[in-house]
Amino acid sequence: MIKKCLFPVAGYGTRFLPATKSMPKEMLPLVNKPLVQYGVEESIEAGLKEVAFVTGRGKRSIADHFDISYELEHQIAGTGKEKYLSSIREVLDKGTFMMTRQREMKGLGHAILTGECLIGNEAFGVILSDDLCLNKGDEGVMAQMVKLYNQFRCSIVATMEVPADQIEKYGVIAGEDMGNGLYRVSNMVEKPKPEDAPSNLAVIGRYILTPDIFDIIRDTPPGKNGEIQLTDALMTQAQNGCVLAYKFRGKRFDCGSVPGFIEATNYVYEHIYSEE
Ligand code: UTP
Repeated sequence: MIKKCLFPVAGYGTRFLPATKSMPKEMLPLVNKPLVQYGVEESIEAGLKEVAFVTGRGKRSIADHFDISYELEHQIAGTGKEKYLSSIREVLDKGTFMMTRQREMKGLGHAILTGECLIGNEAFGVILSDDLCLNKGDEGVMAQMVKLYNQFRCSIVATMEVPADQIEKYGVIAGEDMGNGLYRVSNMVEKPKPEDAPSNLAVIGRYILTPDIFDIIRDTPPGKNGEIQLTDALMTQAQNGCVLAYKFRGKRFDCGSVPGFIEATNYVYEHIYSEE
């Protein structure tokens, strides 16, 4: 059974400067809840209750968010304002939280390798909290992927169809169609030109990884921008073993970009916050 989920949250969030100068991108609120809490709720819903953060300098408020604030609890105890804390209290009751720091931002692959000390030798989920995934009234994307892992026991990447003019922003897969939105991955390309893209299926920030990925990342040389790319390691894993791509059910918002963040804010306000 998978119990752990890794959250790489060490990135600089330069696209949100100056907001992210002294505040982590992951703490930017979508209406009233920080981005990272949506991801953690998705993880806990999927049964991955051991939450592991790979943080960096200036990200201390993430650790504080997933801890009790005694002063605040004391201040609002017995008042009508307690309801505003209910969602984070529920997360704290259900989950356990661990952290380690990525000292140099050498890419997503490197961030995941940094998390090895928290994961050990077991399969684990990965959530990039700046990719917000919502599936209102139905199971979340990570829960869908855990079910598939229990059936196939190999690494799984979440994918979605994207138009050709957007493909350059993503890692893109080629693979054999196994039906029911599943593909056996044969090739992966990071940020291809539209004419070089092997398909229209883009990888988004949800993964289940088997622990052999750590050794593979260790042997993966830096790729684009001198960063250690998870895509390169997954490509090796796909060639030597098995990686599945899964076209998930639900909506995804690119909250790492300003337009995606605004779109997500409007959606959450209209369809989630207003109906709570
Ligand atoms: P991004 O590519 O969105 O980078 O990283 P970023 O630094 O967060 O944002 P910009 O591009 O500067 O605006 C994708 C995910 O991988 C994590 C980020 O925190 C984000 O969740 N990441 C990336 C790390 O944890 N460490 C890294 O070295 C790189």
